[in-house]
Amino acid sequence: MPLLSRWFVRTSLIYLCLGFLIGGALLWSRAIGHTGVIWRLLPVHVAWLLFGWMMQLAMGVAYWIMPKSAAPETAERPLTELAWASYASLNLSLLVLALSAAEGHFFGALRPASGALLGLSVLFYAAHLWPRIRAVTQAQGASR
Ligand code: HEM
Repeated sequence: MPLLSRWFVRTSLIYLCLGFLIGGALLWSRAIGHTGVIWRLLPVHVAWLLFGWMMQLAMGVAYWIMPKSAAPETAERPLTELAWASYASLNLSLLVLALSAAEGHFFGALRPASGALLGLSVLFYAAHLWPRIRAVTQAQGASR
């Protein structure tokens, strides 16, 4: 498994644990009838599990198993910098979102920045993977 895939997958596991922890805290808070400050973390719970865990896991595995290049004779994955940039902006976006849950105007204003970073991450990733999508022939060990 390539280095970037390991980073994607391990980071996604961290978000799985943290997202479940926040979910558990939300459930607990509801059970004891508390509707306080913890509920500011609901968007963080959702984003960390949907993007930090699920999307990030898929990105890591896809980076690993997709054909390496449009040219079968090329062993190197192209545009790896874009894939790393996607990893960095995704995780920065998720951290900025957590900061935006803090009280105060400054922190609240960080939410659009988090959304923009998430969008950038998706664009970087698509731009990296797009040229790698190609048909793989049976001679190369895959069915059509
Ligand atoms: C992959 C796993 C999970 C995903 C994708 C997920 C996603 C979501 C989503 C989309 C919402 C709705 C947010 C909204 O209505 O605005 C939500 C709410 C919630 N989740 Fe999760 N969740 C997951 C796991 C968990 C776990 C394990 C727990 C508890 C241990 C949990 C506890 C909660 C609670 C308490 C709410 C608030 C429900 C409410 O508003 O009434 N979630 N989650």
